[in-house]
Amino acid sequence: MREPRTLGEFIIEKQNDFPHASGELSSLLGSIKLAAKIVNREINKAGLVDITGAIGTENVQGEDQQKLDVYANDKFKAALEARDQVCGVASEEDDEAVVFNKQLNKNAKYVVLMDPLDGSSNIDVNVSVGTIFSIYRRISPIGTPPTEEDFLQPGNKQVAAGYVIYGSSTMLVYTTGNGVHGFTYDPSLGSFCLSHESMRQPETGTIYSVNEGHYIRFPMGVKMYIKYCQENVPNEKRPYTSRYIGSLVADFHRNLIKGGIYLYPSSQSYPEGKLRLLYEANPIAFLAEQAGGVATDGKKRILDLEPTELHQRVPFFAGSKNMMQKLHEFLETFSDN
Ligand code: AHG
Ligand code: MN
Ligand code: MN
Repeated sequence: MREPRTLGEFIIEKQNDFPHASGELSSLLGSIKLAAKIVNREINKAGLVDITGAIGTENVQGEDQQKLDVYANDKFKAALEARDQVCGVASEEDDEAVVFNKQLNKNAKYVVLMDPLDGSSNIDVNVSVGTIFSIYRRISPIGTPPTEEDFLQPGNKQVAAGYVIYGSSTMLVYTTGNGVHGFTYDPSLGSFCLSHESMRQPETGTIYSVNEGHYIRFPMGVKMYIKYCQENVPNEKRPYTSRYIGSLVADFHRNLIKGGIYLYPSSQSYPEGKLRLLYEANPIAFLAEQAGGVATDGKKRILDLEPTELHQRVPFFAGSKNMMQKLHEFLETFSDN
């Protein structure tokens, strides 16, 4: 059997593929890897230590913060601050972007945007959760505090993005714009080992993932597409299978591997959609496209949207190319509703 290739080794091997080849991005990904191991350790013993449940506070978006939201947020920020590449972080769990003052005179070129714990309402019931990260080169001059324009860049400017899924095994999946690569954590080695090189999303699939509890409030095009998924057309493998975990990372990861489509449309409860453009939609869209899939807000490519505020929400559709094409046909036909 071949020796496993660890994430650290793989990143160094691939370093020259980066558009801005440097060891700095490798080091930054190293910080994320370290924080992921720490969070993974806590999540694995979630039932044994006092880490489950709500903490009694709300984030800026009015959502209850779970203890693990806050724990993961702190650990990822600490790991990123400990090295010299990142000058600031914007997180779903913080009201404002955090500036790492001590890194400002150290040539720090990058900002990170993240959802430190995605699907956190699942943690108390032992269901997969994740971390999502998105990395940009800063626009403002090195050595000065990062500004709003550094954090509000369109997704097409990402230099790297990825997620960690804390599931039946823990995986880290990332892209730097040269394909998508997945690494499974081997707890006996304490290492993420290459298990899924150059991941490709099947061009079509038979899984649709949506919170159907909100069906009645969805736009007509989405309703009609869901009905299409449910129609009995055996030679087209319909009806499709419905699978919805309620952690974007886990739902996307399954559909990435098996082929499928994920839908979080606008609805009367969430007129702008629920998912966050900068922490969730952009990094997942970058991964989707790099794996041959498609990600849009129903009309436009997610990666081309111009962000206007940090915690902005967006309707989000991502998945296999052919399934997304069919969805868009329905959205166009029923666009008036
Ligand atoms: P978070 O835990 O980071 O707030 O994200 C939850 C998101 C996403 O992970 C998931 O797909 C979606 O919310 C689930 O929303 P519903 O419960 O409305 O289906
Ligand atoms: Mn989330
Ligand atoms: Mn979250």
